[in-house]
Amino acid sequence: MKRRLVIIILSIFLVIYFTNLYAKGQTVIADWLSTPEEQTVNVPVEKGDSDLVEDKPEQIPYLESTLEVAVGGKVVVNNPGDLLVLVNKKRNLPSDYVPEDLVIPNVLFPFKEKLEKKYLRKEAALALEQLFQRASQDNVKLYALSGYRSYKRQEEIFNYKAQQRGEEVANKTSARPGQSEHQTGLAMDVTSSGVNYKLVESFRETIEGQWLVGHAADFGFVIRYPQGKEEITGYSYEPWHLRYVGKEIAGKVNTLGITLEEYFRDYM
Ligand code: DAL
Ligand code: ZN
Repeated sequence: MKRRLVIIILSIFLVIYFTNLYAKGQTVIADWLSTPEEQTVNVPVEKGDSDLVEDKPEQIPYLESTLEVAVGGKVVVNNPGDLLVLVNKKRNLPSDYVPEDLVIPNVLFPFKEKLEKKYLRKEAALALEQLFQRASQDNVKLYALSGYRSYKRQEEIFNYKAQQRGEEVANKTSARPGQSEHQTGLAMDVTSSGVNYKLVESFRETIEGQWLVGHAADFGFVIRYPQGKEEITGYSYEPWHLRYVGKEIAGKVNTLGITLEEYFRDYM
């Protein structure tokens, strides 16, 4: 009886001993088999080191950082009030965006009514006034035809043109609502008596059109849809469409002979 008890206790002791030994052996074998990379996984990382890795700022290009995807999948700019906002067929303005500082520039218009399209944002309006003054001193008589346009107005214009010529053709010269720079209050279409106050390509050949090519950038404007860049801008050549971006960037874009899309992509 006594002998039996001793054998049972000894057996229990041996089972516990060998179970422990087996578990340790598994850990050692696992360490042998794992790759150096896997082995480092369990190495505790000092807090300072992990902070350095996680806090390192990601290099997000300017163009991507100014976009958001809205409900419905539309890609919308998050900086509509920025003087450098880039709006095009891939970058929509929020449909409810209305600039806060719209004013009527003191320049010539070929009509008298106080229409929405007379307005521009304040800084762009002041720059346009200076441009017109300088043109006048050079005996060049410019007329401002179409500035700010609400989302709703752009929708009416686009729908009208699309009805006449189909959406695809319309979209070569007219922006879809939300995609027009005119909604930013930073664009003005300019014309002259030589082309009957119309927006036509032959404006380029007029004294006024030529003067703009040589001087617009000095006042912070770019001719936004240049000839030969239709694939990049998405629109036909528009020698009349001025976009305010400020003197520094207008000067660079003009000197480099590039579009705003290329400037933001390659030089920002
Ligand atoms: N004509 C330009 C592209 C606009 O509609 O905004
Ligand atoms: Zn325009």
